[in-house]
Amino acid sequence: MKTATTTSNHVTRSVEETIALGEQLASSLPSGTVVALSGDLGAGKTALTKGIARGLGVTDTITSPTFTLVNEHVARDGRRLYHVDLYRLDKPQQAVEIGIEEELAPDGWTIIEWAEKLGDVLPADAVRIHIEIVGEKERQIRVTEGRRQKEEGIYR
Ligand SMILES: Nc1ncnc2c1ncn2[C@@H]1O[C@H](COP(=O)(O)OP(=O)(O)OP(=O)(O)O)[C@@H](O)[C@H]1O
Ligand SMILES: [Mg+2]
Repeated sequence: MKTATTTSNHVTRSVEETIALGEQLASSLPSGTVVALSGDLGAGKTALTKGIARGLGVTDTITSPTFTLVNEHVARDGRRLYHVDLYRLDKPQQAVEIGIEEELAPDGWTIIEWAEKLGDVLPADAVRIHIEIVGEKERQIRVTEGRRQKEEGIYR
């Protein structure tokens, strides 16, 4: 059973640097990837999403889908980027009820802000990114690659 994970740590000192990091990370995210973002209010989850979206070839403006829960964008090759924000979610089961599993699209990318709210609904092979607020402009960004090997389909 392969359970190896790889973690990389990054420090950014401006919103632009976080966007640039996202853009750079995008090149290592194959389609089908679920990116699980966590971190406090104002940590930079949406900023990082902007960068990843840019790196995936999305040309729309990225805004936090707090009221819609999911924003859909067209990425490279016409594949979709689903940008999900679960800030308002009370329990993981609600995400299943609103059909979150359909957004975990094998053909595109899904980026989930407040992904920790999903609990076990989160696919085991998601790429987890945690953003820590270090100072007013400083952020520590930890990227943990998901398990590539799926033992039991998409869900644990
Ligand atoms: N190094 C940095 N990287 C990202 N954002 C930064 C940085 N330094 C300061 N900021 C500021 O922090 C804020 C990050 O906002 P953003 O909406 O991306 O956070 P968020 O984690 O998505 O918040 P929310 O939980 O409300 O969705 C912005 O106001 C941005 O200007
Ligand atoms: Mg946000």
